Amino acid sequence: MPQRNPDGACLQCHKPEEEGMKGKHAKAMNPQNRQPITCTSCHGKPLLHHREGVKDVMRFNDPMYTVEQQNGVCMSCHTPKQLQKAF
Ligand code: HEC
Ligand code: HEC
Ligand code: HEC
Repeated sequence: MPQRNPDGACLQCHKPEEEGMKGKHAKAMNPQNRQPITCTSCHGKPLLHHREGVKDVMRFNDPMYTVEQQNGVCMSCHTPKQLQKAF
């Protein structure tokens, strides 16, 4: 059955701060598919052994992923110039 709230599955276990990354994007639409931005827009989909810390979802500020990989997530929707201005 399709999830009513696409973030619902993640939020059973995670409670990210409302003011965090998700907060800024909570009301934004994904320009690529014109759907609301969800957890998976940035983190991707978890694998079966997600809870054991396998390399699946994007972890920011984690050496498991290179800076280029981390930035690549943002660059799929933003230009470097836009982000420089915002920060
Ligand atoms: C059944 C519980 C559960 C669900 C559902 C779940 N997670 Fe997790 N998640 C965990 C646990 C436990 C960890 C810690 C694993 C570890 O790193 O050892 C984790 C780790 C993570 C991390 C890394 C956190 C960090 O501090 O590095 C991210 C990001 C994440 N999950 C995102 C998601 C997203 C996005 C979804 C939904 C698509 C999701 N999770 C669904 C339990 C869950
Ligand atoms: C716009 C991109 C973006 C979206 C959307 C997003 N995240 Fe994140 N997430 C990040 C970034 C960047 C970090 C690391 C910096 C930080 O903590 O703000 C992070 C950190 C995390 C962490 C580890 C730190 C912590 O707070 O424990 C978890 C878990 C997580 N996100 C889960 C989620 C879940 C669940 C959702 C959906 C409700 C979500 N994220 C939506 C970008 C995003
Ligand atoms: C799925 C597409 C998507 C992804 C991935 C994404 N964003 Fe966004 N982001 C948006 C949209 C859409 C907005 C709202 C656009 C606007 O208001 O101009 C936004 C807004 C923002 C804002 C607020 C801009 C402002 O002027 O206040 C910041 C900062 C930001 N994003 C940073 C990031 C960072 C950092 C990442 C990577 C961790 C990221 N975004 C990933 C689509 C995305």
